[in-house]
Amino acid sequence: MILLAIESSCDETSAAIMVDGELKSNVISTQLIHSEWGGVVPELASRAHQKSIIPVVQEALQKANINKNDLNAIAFTRGPGLLGALMVGTSFAKSLALSLDIPLIEVNHMQAHVLAHFIEEPRPQFPFLCLTVSGGHTQLVWVEGPLNMQIIGETQDDAVGEAFDKTAKLLGLPYPGGPLIDKLAKEGNPDKYQFPMGEMPGLDFSFSGIKTAILYFLQKALKLNPNFIEENKADICASVQKTLIEILLRKVKKAMREKNCTSIAIAGGVSANSGLRKGLQELGEENHWEVFIPAFSYCTDNAGMIAMAGHFKFEVGEFCGQDVSPLARYAL
Ligand code: KG4
Ligand code: ZN
Repeated sequence: MILLAIESSCDETSAAIMVDGELKSNVISTQLIHSEWGGVVPELASRAHQKSIIPVVQEALQKANINKNDLNAIAFTRGPGLLGALMVGTSFAKSLALSLDIPLIEVNHMQAHVLAHFIEEPRPQFPFLCLTVSGGHTQLVWVEGPLNMQIIGETQDDAVGEAFDKTAKLLGLPYPGGPLIDKLAKEGNPDKYQFPMGEMPGLDFSFSGIKTAILYFLQKALKLNPNFIEENKADICASVQKTLIEILLRKVKKAMREKNCTSIAIAGGVSANSGLRKGLQELGEENHWEVFIPAFSYCTDNAGMIAMAGHFKFEVGEFCGQDVSPLARYAL
């Protein structure tokens, strides 16, 4: 079964080829245009997707040594994401499927982040808990099967990726700031500054309080020393990162206990964070959990994970019609 998958939910245009569940190519074109604006500009994202989608799909076909006429199905991200950006991938997938007369498979982007764990060994056994952390979402997902998962905790305001990116912006770093904070944090002292972690009931998260606390902290410090950020950047990054990771891992611990679970996975862009990867690994060792951390290439947005989700849906015959439309909000 030869599957083409397309991802266009935010600022990455990506296409992948999967043959019988095996990923043969995964081409990702990251839109660099947003960096100068300090965040993703939706209209610019849509235009960049329009420009890149054909060359990206062609490259994915070429790398996998597949002719488009050999395709058996096309999977695409239906949502959640930026509507205009999703529209480009959806329209492309629909048109190509219509012209080749092959079935279409719509994929939920957040479900695909979790399923990225099935692209390569080691693959988790069901059921397991997945902490999905990205630029738009922070979710604790209870995964009972490839197409059977439910959110048991999530953020009530900002996503943790947003907290990383907004902190970076306050520090004068370009978008996306998450990876830069990660890099700077490696040289800083994580115990130098303390930020409030906030208390959310149950398994939910909140990151708006810490965001405001960081803003006030910096404003106050800059009044006393205009060079405060420049002189302490690495320590600020290390301290903020430590706090954000602590918030995430506390809830992971609580959820694992409540579910009586011993298998934990992380997914989404923020799962590329070295501090989170290390922190989860250590917590896993302490508690004798099996810990699943995806390869860097499957953490941030990519069509490989859309292909994986598409593959599972193909297996059970879950196709969609030509009347399908993208969804900016799309529950798991
Ligand atoms: O999953 P993703 O590529 O896109 C969404 O679906 O949102 O996640 C992007 C997010 C951004 O907020 C980015 O700053 C964050 O993931 N990110 C990181 C790291 N790499 C990406 N955050 C912290 N540390 C990293 N190494
Ligand atoms: Zn994503």
